[in-house]
Amino acid sequence: MSNNSKNIVLGICAGIAAYRMYDLINELKKLNHNVTVVLTHDAKNFVNELTLKVLSSNNVYSDMFDPKAQSKPMHIELADKADIVLVAPATADFVAKAAGGICDELLTSILIATKAKVYVAPAMNVNMWNHFTTQKNVETLVTKLGYTMIPPEDGDLACGYSGIGHIASNEKILNVILHKDSEAGLLSGKKVLITAGGTREQIDPVRYIGNKSSGKMGIAIADVAYDMGAEVVLVTTTPCDRPYQVIEVEAAQEMQEVVEAEFDNSDALIMAAAVSDFRPMVVSKQKIKKKNEDVTIELTRNPDILEIIGRIKKDHQIVIGFSAESENLEKNAKEKLVKKKIDMIIANDITNKDIGFSSDNNSVILLTKDGGKETLPRQPKVQIARYICNKLAEMFNNIKETRKV
Ligand code: CTP
Repeated sequence: MSNNSKNIVLGICAGIAAYRMYDLINELKKLNHNVTVVLTHDAKNFVNELTLKVLSSNNVYSDMFDPKAQSKPMHIELADKADIVLVAPATADFVAKAAGGICDELLTSILIATKAKVYVAPAMNVNMWNHFTTQKNVETLVTKLGYTMIPPEDGDLACGYSGIGHIASNEKILNVILHKDSEAGLLSGKKVLITAGGTREQIDPVRYIGNKSSGKMGIAIADVAYDMGAEVVLVTTTPCDRPYQVIEVEAAQEMQEVVEAEFDNSDALIMAAAVSDFRPMVVSKQKIKKKNEDVTIELTRNPDILEIIGRIKKDHQIVIGFSAESENLEKNAKEKLVKKKIDMIIANDITNKDIGFSSDNNSVILLTKDGGKETLPRQPKVQIARYICNKLAEMFNNIKETRKV
């Protein structure tokens, strides 16, 4: 195997799109990757084991207790061996089991055991895809477990329906799983500090002042930066389980303490968190009881974390902020960029319901301190995250070039 070739465990579930994996295996093999196929029990109804074995030049597995296993149990052996786990097509049943941590067969058990990057390409009936539980499970896979979704596409479905549910093209799948490889290493040697989520400012033991931020944008940036080789520290109010350092915080002051402590030896800060500008002046130790009168909560200003960091940042450190605006998007964002003395600001319009907050999509304008402006149209947050991380890598290179001159 050459240096660039990967051990890819390809999990195939029981769906008509399974036959497309014959071609995908061929393509991966042509690119020198080593593919090991794992079938779910029911996938055997859709594809032929012998064909898969010949195409992949490897044994095909589906049995948890396979006598072909070497020294370790089969699921651990395959989980450890994988650089990449790709599940395609992934059924609604598989997505639900993976989100719930169920290990009822070989493929689901590998998922729980592996430390490899996991990609999931679902394919199913449009109503099954749009079902609340499927969408909730997909969200869990992406936001809680860090899997990368290769979303199904709109089209005519084998079940006779028309709509979203068609597996992504093999070309798309290859682009997603291998594109990341070409970006791998772009941020290696860099420590990147990222904040995510909305802060919660305590009023009393049960109440707080919060905001609508879901943390998705910041977590997506952290995932991509990690994939690109950065040492990532994520400071978040939204809990998640990741292979990099995750520090959970609640309030702005707590976030400030952690960011200040971590920033000193970081190369970059990306401040994607929605930090509350105010907090209650006094936090009641006891639950505030209702009486027959109005209650007034006095608020005091929170520190502006980004502005503090902008003041102390050294020349080799890059600081990126976000700007949530409901009007005068560009003008307000530009003012924040200058006032907070940062290198780049990413502005988004929070009044557009299609994007922002808990949506998986966003549309942003990137403004740099040297007057650069780029507009990224509506697209998945993970794509925006990839663009931002590539931009960060470019900014590090510019610093290196300037230093040489
Ligand atoms: N920010 C921060 N600390 C604060 C408020 C904001 O670090 N107390 C950061 C945010 O993480 C974001 C940037 O500053 O990266 C801009 O935040 P935003 O809420 O858009 O603007 P504000 O500076 O709070 O100004 P305003 O609320 O007046 O728009």
